[in-house]
This record gives sequence, structure tokens and C-alpha cells, in this order.
Amino acid sequence: MALLRRLPKQLREMDSTTFDLGRIDVAVAKSVRDMLTTPQKAVLLLGEVGIGKTHLLVSKFKQHIACCVRDEVLWYGADDVAEELRLMALHGPEDPPRLFELVALEKPFHLYWDDLDKMKLSESADAQLFRLLNGMMLLGCRISATTNMSLDELGEIWSPALLRRLTEMLDGVIEVAEQKGEAA
Ligand SMILES: Nc1ncnc2c1ncn2[C@@H]1O[C@H](COP(=O)(O)OP(=O)(O)OP(=O)(O)O)[C@@H](O)[C@H]1O
Ligand SMILES: [Mg+2]
Repeated sequence: MALLRRLPKQLREMDSTTFDLGRIDVAVAKSVRDMLTTPQKAVLLLGEVGIGKTHLLVSKFKQHIACCVRDEVLWYGADDVAEELRLMALHGPEDPPRLFELVALEKPFHLYWDDLDKMKLSESADAQLFRLLNGMMLLGCRISATTNMSLDELGEIWSPALLRRLTEMLDGVIEVAEQKGEAA
């Protein structure tokens, strides 16, 4: 399937059948099940390194493609988003890269953005990203994403306006945490 080809090779095997919900907190597991049954809803997955955020985002992405064939869903890693901003700075609105083009064409989409905090943002990149997210928000786009940072920590590396645009395109936040050990 064309959409799945955009997933980096090492992520293609991940899906909901290979994710062990028993390894995460019971309340979180319930939110994850809900997330996977309504993949159209936009979710930000927070949590420690290696807890399974990317695995869950890929699972949601695949569920979304399977359940909502009419939806435009796109997978982007941090490097892919950085490349979009670089190309936009280089070419401008006459030859915009994919996401800017979809916004210009007024085609709403659901962006799957893995590792959104991994991108270093200069002041001009922050402003460019704000323009993109602002256009997306006005179109009714959604964003599902992963990050190791809390929203407060993200606020330290992103401008407040940019962070606001992100949160406006979310339906929920899931903090993925390990299953606590049995009480002694
Ligand atoms: N509950 C789980 N069930 C099955 N596999 C898991 C689970 N949690 C993590 N893994 C596996 O562990 C590896 C790391 O998971 P993943 O890349 O999703 O973590 P992450 O939270 O995105 O980490 P990072 O913060 O470094 O991006 C992957 O191979 C993933 O398939
Ligand atoms: Mg990850």
C-alpha cells in the first residue's frame, strides 16, 4: 500500500497485534485501546525513551488507513518535517513542499509526526512551522505525534504560539507509562 511505503523500513513491522499492552499501566492501556478503535482522533503520545510510543503511533497510523480510506493520512519523522521547512525556505510558495501544498490546496489531512521534539528550530524555522500549523488548524487538520517531552518542556523549545497551534489540533494526550509492579 502506497501510504505504508512512507514508513521507514524499521517501523513497517510494528502494529497493534505485536504491542504488549500488559507492559504498560492498566489505565493507559485502556486509553490506548480507545485510541486504536477511533484512530481519526488526534493523540499526542508522551513518555520515556523505549516505552513504545513510536510502536503505538505506527499501530494507530495503520488502523487509520484501514478504517478511513477517504482520509488523507501522512507519516512524517522529525527529519521529514525539517526537510519540509528547508524546502519551503528554498522554493517558497511557487513550488511548495507537500504539507504546505496541501494547505494551499485546502486539502485537510491527519499528520502523523514521530519525535516532534527532535527538530532543532531556529527563530525563522519556528515562524515557518507556525505558518504551516496555523494553515493546518484553519483547515481542520489533526496531528497525532510522539515526544519524550512534557507539554511544559516543549514550551521551552517552541514559541507559545506554535505550541498553541499544536494543542489545538489534538483531541487528547496519552502519557505512556510502565505497568507498576505487583504490590508486595
Ligand atoms: N509494550 C510493548 N510491546 C511490544 N513491543 C514493545 C513495547 N514497548 C516497546 N516495544 C518495542 O521496543 C522498541 C522501542 O519502542 P519504541 O521505538 O516504540 O519506543 P519509543 O517510546 O518510541 O522510544 P523513543 O523515545 O526512543 O522514540 C521497539 O522495537 C518496540 O517495538
Ligand atoms: Mg519513538
